[in-house]
Amino acid sequence: MVEIYAHRGFTGSFPENTMIAFKEAVKIGADGIETDVHITKDGVLCLIHDETVNRTSNSKGYIRDMTWEEVKKIDVSCKVLDGRYGFCGIPSAEEFLDLIKTSGIKANIELKNGKIYYPKLADKLVDMIRSFGIEDRVMISSFNNASLVRLKKIAPEIKCGFLKGSPGVENAGLYCSEMGVDYYHPDFKTVTPEVKRECDDYGIGLNVWTVNDKPALRNMMTLGVNSVITNYPDYAIEVRNEVIK
Ligand code: G3P
Ligand code: CA
Repeated sequence: MVEIYAHRGFTGSFPENTMIAFKEAVKIGADGIETDVHITKDGVLCLIHDETVNRTSNSKGYIRDMTWEEVKKIDVSCKVLDGRYGFCGIPSAEEFLDLIKTSGIKANIELKNGKIYYPKLADKLVDMIRSFGIEDRVMISSFNNASLVRLKKIAPEIKCGFLKGSPGVENAGLYCSEMGVDYYHPDFKTVTPEVKRECDDYGIGLNVWTVNDKPALRNMMTLGVNSVITNYPDYAIEVRNEVIK
């Protein structure tokens, strides 16, 4: 059955990449949560989409230039949904993995190491996943495909997926298989039955992003993708119930 991953948590109704958005995704019955990881100046893994806090908060600056003490005081809920959820901080990866461990939900963690190269980001994340003992419930994705090739060498037990924008990669199944990763994560707009067939031929799973409207969710689910990554896990659950009938 197609799995539903809440993109940055339940972003359709809650501030992105916050503990409330993650917990609400669990509550609504999503199968997994997608999130984005960066690293502070003093080496703490934390979850935010952008390299800076400028878009999502009233503060300014790069995560890599701040300490965790500074980062954790920043409110990333004031600019969205009329600030109705009050203060919501930037979560640490540790808080997030604790939720994954205790709730039983799955995770798709995107290494945000495309624009900034963070030495040790992947290594620290792998150590943390192993310390929680949840290697079987966490996958790692990245647009920095080379970093995942390296990650598979240090942590072959953790599933990894190559992220691609538009256009997608030709012969995606062959490409992912030759590079030793488990999944292909394309923009859903680039996905055709041929892409699905090609991935199947090489045993590569297909996880598509970011599928937010019902017709597109229906289309991707009917095609038989492994998972959809969506801001609206509520709509996705409704569509899956229709498609399964
Ligand atoms: O994992 C898919 C999706 O999250 C990639 O795009 O920009 O939302 O991180 P972005
Ligand atoms: Ca992401």
